[in-house]
Amino acid sequence: MTASEILNRYIQFFEKRGHVRIENSSLVPLNDPTTLFTSSGMQPLVPFLLGEQHPQGLRLVNAQNCFRAQDIDEIGDNRHTTFFRMLGNWSLGDPASPGDTASLGGYFKKEQISWFFEFLTSKTEGLGLDPSKLYVTVFSGFDGIEEDKESLEIWKNLFEEKGINSENRIFKYGVEKNWWSRSGTPDKMPIGEPGGPDSEVFYDFGEDLGSHEIYEKTVERVEPCHVNCDCGRYMEIGNSVFMQYIKRDSGFEKLPKQNVDFGGGLERLVAATENKQDVFETSLFYPIIESIVSNTKKEYKNNAREMRIVLDHFLGSIFISSNNVKPSNKEQGYLLRRLIRRGLDNFYLLSGSDISPILETIVNQYKETDPILVEKFEEIKNTILEEESTYQKALSGGKKMIEREIAKISDEVTVGDELMGVTQISADVAFKAITSFGLGPTQLKSLGYIFDDQELAQKIKEHQELSRKGAAQKFAGGLADHSELTVKGHTATHLMHQALRDVLGNSVHQTGSNITEERVRFDFAFDRKVTDEEIQKVTDIVNSKIKNDLPVHFEIMPLQKARDLGAIGLFNDKYAEEVKIYFVGDYSVEFCGGPHVEKTSHIKSFAILKEEGVARGVRRIYVKVT
Ligand code: SER
Repeated sequence: MTASEILNRYIQFFEKRGHVRIENSSLVPLNDPTTLFTSSGMQPLVPFLLGEQHPQGLRLVNAQNCFRAQDIDEIGDNRHTTFFRMLGNWSLGDPASPGDTASLGGYFKKEQISWFFEFLTSKTEGLGLDPSKLYVTVFSGFDGIEEDKESLEIWKNLFEEKGINSENRIFKYGVEKNWWSRSGTPDKMPIGEPGGPDSEVFYDFGEDLGSHEIYEKTVERVEPCHVNCDCGRYMEIGNSVFMQYIKRDSGFEKLPKQNVDFGGGLERLVAATENKQDVFETSLFYPIIESIVSNTKKEYKNNAREMRIVLDHFLGSIFISSNNVKPSNKEQGYLLRRLIRRGLDNFYLLSGSDISPILETIVNQYKETDPILVEKFEEIKNTILEEESTYQKALSGGKKMIEREIAKISDEVTVGDELMGVTQISADVAFKAITSFGLGPTQLKSLGYIFDDQELAQKIKEHQELSRKGAAQKFAGGLADHSELTVKGHTATHLMHQALRDVLGNSVHQTGSNITEERVRFDFAFDRKVTDEEIQKVTDIVNSKIKNDLPVHFEIMPLQKARDLGAIGLFNDKYAEEVKIYFVGDYSVEFCGGPHVEKTSHIKSFAILKEEGVARGVRRIYVKVT
């Protein structure tokens, strides 16, 4: 069965059960500033899951094009792709009358679980999968939200009706695995976000396919293997979320509607139907792999990771470009640039020369379901090829510089096998090149350098651990500790940051801080000495805010909303879609990890000790707080 046949069967199955097909929303959300891409079928339905009436009724079905930027580094295993199509069905609330599932009212666990099982196993209407290859998980409960016994019982009966023992087939997991919201586990959900327990279905490919051998290179194998093991033996093929809760300040509340939000990755359903443990070997993807094989003259088996990345990244690039996005340095354009360049790095590593035939094969595989790709093919291809030429110019300039620098930083450079056209360098030199020029190992290889991969990987790992520690320290806001005095100093710093802007203008912004029990050291961008009079004004403002006893609180919110609020502070993380913002009364609104005092009156005194210049355009202030 082809991907498009599976897609059609799914839609027809649910249409027959009273669902109305809704449109495949734009991959780049039109009216949602909180995310860059549509990443699940439920995303455009959030207002309706929260209680709005949907114009097309209570039972909906569709196939939604999705892109998950957060998966970009996982690509290379047997099942992850950044772009995928999600088959989805929804029940928005209650049945027309209790138990009446034949009407066009909503439905809940019993109907959802039974229908999905029927779709998976029915030979006539569904995919005809062998039910003994299916394993499921249900929610084990969390903090006042009870274990999902109802789903457990429903699954037991379904398996037993097919004569399958339900022992060792249904597993319970907590919030890490069986809770779904757009932001993940309950603690990560912002106030106002809907979520709920879920029940996942896994397909077992069986050990005899040798998955452990093939995949242990890219994932860590967990012993003993179980449904949530990443080795590739089991693949999640569908997730029924019981979208029942909303997060409030006070905890979780039941939503006015008890919704069902089902999503299943089409690519994975194809893999299960064709019993192909590797989604890239299915009838949907293998023709694309074959075109990479024929272009690069390399075997798939020994180059699976790189070939999967090439396929995935150009597939994603094609769909993003079809939404009129152009490569750039911000937002969707930045992701597109990153996909094209990373895809090319891997393609060049495989000695690929011409990406066009691969683009054509991708579009050919999607032409039935997404004819827009055929219509826009020339435009999409030009977008990708223009970026390739921009990238090649940058690379060849970079290569000359790197050659010079590598010669400088190493006398160990030895020219390798001339016939192969490669240069052998030590892992130390490779590491220096990577850290000095912002390259990745793949880029270095595509520039013709070879080195000891494992030794380099170890160096990179050590380096990342160090930077992580550094970043954690920065995130802690430059706080030496969380003692009472340090925390007071931290809140006073927020007040002073805003006061400096009030007195000196909005070009002032923090460039660093270091807060200990003894003093606050605060650096900011400003191009002249601050006068005594100005220092006095800043001191007076901060002291008056302290006296006003302003309450301090934080909120987690979408980055865009924080920007709209005019939040100040250090915020460079492009991918942090949810950010933490501290408010001191309504005077200061700042990006910050905390901690802070609860009320400004906890600060007893504030005085500026010294103001000095530390570098061109950077001033430093020392403060004493008690
Ligand atoms: N929203 C859920 C998911 O993305 C199910 O549709 O997995």
